Amino acid sequence: MMKMMVCGLSTKLLNICIASFCKVRLLEKAEAIVIDGIRLGVIPDVVTYNTLVSAYSRFVSLDAAYSVIHRMKEAGISPNVITYNSLMSGATWNCLLSRSLDLFEEMLLAGIHPNLWSYNILMHCFFKLGKPDEANRVFQDILLSNLTPHPSTLNIMINGLCINGYIDNALMLYRNLRRHGFVPQLVTYNILINGLCKARKLRQARRILKELGESGHEPNLITYTTVMKYCFRSNKYDKGLEIMSVMMGKGYTFDGYAYCTVVAALVKTGRIEEANACMEQTIRNGIELDLVSYNTLLNMYCREGKFEAAYKLLDEMENGGLLCDKYTHTIIIDGLCKAGNISGAQKHLHYMKMMGFHENLVALNCMIDGLCKAGQIDRAMELYKSMETKDSFTYTSLVHNLCKAGRFRLASKLMMKCLRHGKKIPKATQRAVFDGLYSSGFTDEARKLWWKIRVARILH
Ligand SMILES: *[C@@H]1O[C@H](CO)[C@@H](O)[C@H](O)[C@H]1NC(C)=O
Repeated sequence: MMKMMVCGLSTKLLNICIASFCKVRLLEKAEAIVIDGIRLGVIPDVVTYNTLVSAYSRFVSLDAAYSVIHRMKEAGISPNVITYNSLMSGATWNCLLSRSLDLFEEMLLAGIHPNLWSYNILMHCFFKLGKPDEANRVFQDILLSNLTPHPSTLNIMINGLCINGYIDNALMLYRNLRRHGFVPQLVTYNILINGLCKARKLRQARRILKELGESGHEPNLITYTTVMKYCFRSNKYDKGLEIMSVMMGKGYTFDGYAYCTVVAALVKTGRIEEANACMEQTIRNGIELDLVSYNTLLNMYCREGKFEAAYKLLDEMENGGLLCDKYTHTIIIDGLCKAGNISGAQKHLHYMKMMGFHENLVALNCMIDGLCKAGQIDRAMELYKSMETKDSFTYTSLVHNLCKAGRFRLASKLMMKCLRHGKKIPKATQRAVFDGLYSSGFTDEARKLWWKIRVARILH
């Protein structure tokens, strides 16, 4: 069938086919078409290969993309600036920033002239690498050459200065550009507002916000969320909530993340009723929070000691068909332990096991720590014995608390077991056991322990 598709068609059509397959990540199909094309005498050109380079660098790996260059050379086709731009943006996409710089150099060495997009990527990389001076030099090169900067170039520049802490320079550049007739896009305003909020320059942020209002652009969800988040972060909850109502009034639908931010802010200020109302609205609006959002909220509730609300949320999660993970349970158990509600924590531990999470090491460690802190060290030991896996935290917590209770021999036994399994225990805790044994007259034990520690150090 594929043969029929390309039979008698031009390279241009071949390229369209390949681009469509690449777009939906069917790279094998795209390759099959290339082969069929060649067999039928439709010769791939530079566009064909560039399409493959771009797809490989996005969906597979930079190395896979780079190997296409060898194939091009074998086929007698020279890579061009678009090939290299694709590779560079692929490298950037995969966070291989210095690789991107190498590719730029390779392109120059191959005698290929970079275009504006090559420079854009290069600037972006330099900024991401924390080298604003180099980025600025590229920018000056663009201005000195005959290239006309695209709005994206200016946005990259302003954003790069912001993320590198040069917010004043970013602002200066923005003003300068405006004087020279640059018309900012909405994204430009958002970049500046975000940068100014992060640098806590609220007065200037407000000014840019005002300019945005006068520009004829409508602030979008990103603008509002940025300002709202800033307000919450700097404890200006009322202001943040006010922005939220403005957004709602404008008919913006929040995403789960924004809702999560709002609910967290309400819980933090002790407005549990409002937080619950907001949660209910989230659900009414049909917005599905993901597990991470739920866990974040749960954590917030637990930290504020609002366990009733936490359990209500848990109900909601389970009734909504969301599968809680081990973090969900750990958060609750840890919260209850920290609040000193050991029986509640134990009840939840039981529930967690019933739900199939037997070996949730972190939760079990929280429980052990909670029991120890509540002075129920024997119950902590019982729990320890029932655990299949233990880690350094389990041992350290128990040994530390056994020492505090003056039970040095048991502490020593436990510590030796820990060392035998190659697990680490802090030096201070080791010292406490050792000193405790000595001062309570168990000198033989102390000596034995000393050797065990030495041996463990050599072995592990
Ligand atoms: C402890 O937590 C449980 C929830 O598991 C709760 O029912 C109980 O009232 C709490 N007890 C205290 C003293 O807060």
